[in-house]
Amino acid sequence: MGIKINRLEGCIGAEVEGVDITGPIDAQTYLQLQDALDEHIVLVFHDQDITDAQQVIFSERFGPLEMSLPSDPFGGGGPVFNIANVDADGQIRPAEDPLTLYQSGNLLWHSDGSFREVPLQTSFLSAKVIPPEGGETEFSSLRAAYAALPSEKKVLLEGLVAEHSMAHSRARIAPNLLSKSFQDEVPPVRHLLVRTISATGEKVHFVGSYASHVIGWPFEKGRDLLQELLQWSTQPQFVYRHQWRVNDLVMWDNRLSLHRGRPWDVGKYKRIMHRTTLAGEGSTVPQD
Ligand SMILES: [Fe+2]
Repeated sequence: MGIKINRLEGCIGAEVEGVDITGPIDAQTYLQLQDALDEHIVLVFHDQDITDAQQVIFSERFGPLEMSLPSDPFGGGGPVFNIANVDADGQIRPAEDPLTLYQSGNLLWHSDGSFREVPLQTSFLSAKVIPPEGGETEFSSLRAAYAALPSEKKVLLEGLVAEHSMAHSRARIAPNLLSKSFQDEVPPVRHLLVRTISATGEKVHFVGSYASHVIGWPFEKGRDLLQELLQWSTQPQFVYRHQWRVNDLVMWDNRLSLHRGRPWDVGKYKRIMHRTTLAGEGSTVPQD
């Protein structure tokens, strides 16, 4: 059976049928998947009982993997992020546990790794345990949102630079969520507010919960602009909501989309997801 790419309703996402990503993938199939990702931004695979090692191999077909930062509480410097609300013994952490609060940052719209000098490119997330209700992931198309921006807004954004930081994102949840060593690893970075995808020349804006303010603008004015852009970009017509099944794997392009997890009863139900991520192509703007 050949591979089938079924576009989802709306402007983002497709389901992929007819491929077993736990095993070897031939070059033609890989190219079809890469083309489908470029077109649909989000690809959904069902019924993939994939191990971490297999997920690493599948992810690496698309480019070099990015390791997690050593102080990342869910990555520990390795290639696989264990995004879970359970402790090492598999018991659910209390809802007020600092790690659970830290993880709730995933419920804010974001692009993975935008707080890094080289933001992350493609993410792969596999569902191991999902709650019976809630815990979905929503994806919004920055491509569609940018295309729909008024032309005068595009002109205004051109050349602006925003500061992104992990501390900004997590400060919105609770103070002191980040360890000193983690904070030291993730100082604020600057990114162009409109970046160009090098392979295609496509322009797209770059916002999300890590984006704090606009360099050279009064702080509140810049924050208001970023908030306005975030709200614009996450309107229902730009969004796909993924209802997870166990053994789903979803991959997405962080340059062309934002995503957020949806709440669930974190103190009651387990949610265990494993993520691998591809390194980005480079800094979006020279750092000083
Ligand atoms: Fe994420």
